[in-house]
Amino acid sequence: MPFVKKLRLGVNIDHVATLRNARGAAWPDPLRAAILAEAAGADGITAHLREDRRHIRDADMEALRAGIGIPLNFECAATDEMQAILLRLRPHAACLVPEKREERTTEGGLDVAGDEARLARFIAPLREAGIRVSMFIGHEARQIEASARIGAAVVELHTGLYSELHAEGRTAETEAELAALREGAARAQGLGLEVHGGHGLTFDNVEPVAAIPELVELNIGHFLIGEAVYRGLGPAIEEMRRRMDAARAALPLP
Ligand code: PXP
Repeated sequence: MPFVKKLRLGVNIDHVATLRNARGAAWPDPLRAAILAEAAGADGITAHLREDRRHIRDADMEALRAGIGIPLNFECAATDEMQAILLRLRPHAACLVPEKREERTTEGGLDVAGDEARLARFIAPLREAGIRVSMFIGHEARQIEASARIGAAVVELHTGLYSELHAEGRTAETEAELAALREGAARAQGLGLEVHGGHGLTFDNVEPVAAIPELVELNIGHFLIGEAVYRGLGPAIEEMRRRMDAARAALPLP
């Protein structure tokens, strides 16, 4: 796989819907946020249709599919209901995540190794429909290898633990987690997988992750939507892009 210098930024707009749903109103509208994100330089839009529809709803996915000019990364659990929606909407990509009703956000990676046969069957029709399938996993070798075996095109490495350790100022553990992410990214690329990353990324912690050379895309949501309250969504995305680009520019050329 070629070395990718520029890192793509996927903007997750779930929490625009969280805010809308808090009042049962029609605004703020996730589609409008996605269009603004596109204008500010986002390379893709990510949205998670959860089983409980706590933020993004079916109608949002339909509107995003029809209304944006950049790729839509449809995040969901590997259920029959979601498979049927994916096959009808045919988004650019499907990112499969574990989902537990009681969690506040996607807390861990998907156990691909422990559910390999079922997931292989689950993704086969998606691949046939031309949807790029991504597995949201931890950096463990067994999860990466299982993702490659079942024919996923992409793995998205979970950066949540790194982000938490960074926020708590636990420097040595943060560095160890970053090293494990680096090793996982290299292993995944070596197996022919495209490597993405995401979860918990902020202005303060994005640069070391963006400097992992095998990464092709970062997906960032909660922090950007929060930051939009202060400086607006476009400027928040532009600043994230600037920091990602700076980290990339500092990498040696291959
Ligand atoms: N990638 C995946 C697979 C996710 O589940 C999430 C959270 O919905 C994100 C990226 C973005 O995480 P955050 O909202 O913490 O930036």
